[in-house]
Amino acid sequence: MADLILGIESSCDDTSAAVIRDGWLLSNVIASQDVHRAFGGVVPELASRAHEQNIVPVVSEALSRAGVQAADLTAIAFTRGPGLLGSLLVGTSFAKGLGVALDIPIVMVNHLQGHILANFIRQPEVPVQEPSFPYLCLLVSGGNSQIVRVNGPLEYEILGQTIDDAVGEAFDKCSKMLGLGYPGGPVIDRLAAQGDPKRFRFAKPHIPGLDYSFSGIKTSLLYFVRDEMAKDPQFLENNKEDLCASFQKALIDILMDKLVLAARQTGIRDVTIGGGVSANSGLRARIEAEGRRRGWRTFLPPLKFTTDNAAMIAIAGYYHYLAGERTPLDVAPVSRMADF
Ligand code: KG4
Repeated sequence: MADLILGIESSCDDTSAAVIRDGWLLSNVIASQDVHRAFGGVVPELASRAHEQNIVPVVSEALSRAGVQAADLTAIAFTRGPGLLGSLLVGTSFAKGLGVALDIPIVMVNHLQGHILANFIRQPEVPVQEPSFPYLCLLVSGGNSQIVRVNGPLEYEILGQTIDDAVGEAFDKCSKMLGLGYPGGPVIDRLAAQGDPKRFRFAKPHIPGLDYSFSGIKTSLLYFVRDEMAKDPQFLENNKEDLCASFQKALIDILMDKLVLAARQTGIRDVTIGGGVSANSGLRARIEAEGRRRGWRTFLPPLKFTTDNAAMIAIAGYYHYLAGERTPLDVAPVSRMADF
């Protein structure tokens, strides 16, 4: 009999539900929360309230678009963490309640695993292109910047990670600093496409091994803009495209230097990216260009699976389910998850 998995994602400010059958995506519904825009960042209390309002209609819509009934489900996969506790609580509680009502197992998923496995979401009428194990995943989001060696669907080894800010945080904080709005990544990406990436230079951090650091470059942008504005108050307004292009290039250079080193050290040639920042058009183009130059096989998740979505939670949950994992009903969500 087919395994029909309902995935539920509620770790931050997107309420999402998806249905997969034997690894094939039948539906993926996402309700984004606009309420945070006015505050320049996600307000945790507002996020959990919005999840409470959204979860029932989003799950119903996912089942209806998939053409299945709740009674047909085999298991429910849900995000246990990391994320905002109040937000996670909504998805976790809903999964438990529905699991009990339907008398089917629930399976917890680490949100980051979802990002790592996003390339394995099979879609009808889309050619299957999946990396072979082991492969490298550059995991880049608002909370993480890691190079992960993926040895199997559920076997991960972190080769390097940020020692301070995540790269998504650097995008977001610098966008705020430049008065460009929130979330910063997409805004900087859009403006960067119209600017000259070689116009300004920002110093790269010197961190040993495969670890990253993004706090220094943020400060260097801050001081640079402050000094230029002292000379010319119109500097920011007149140069924002070039500033964004140069800053984005500097972040991508930092990410790529270590990824290239990791590929060289491990000899691994299948390379993927995951997480919100993997939507960045400059990073996507650069990974493909490096791949061509270095003989890597590169796999970029479709844009709709780069930001938070339940399809990736469903696929990760499916692998856990196949491995025989079942989550007890006394499970609690966690805001931080040290390991995968
Ligand atoms: O994975 P994600 O949706 O949430 C978590 O952090 O878990 O990632 C959100 C991050 C934010 O920092 C946002 O600015 C960034 O992803 N982001 C981007 C782009 N789209 C989203 N960063 C750069 N370029 C983009 N196009």
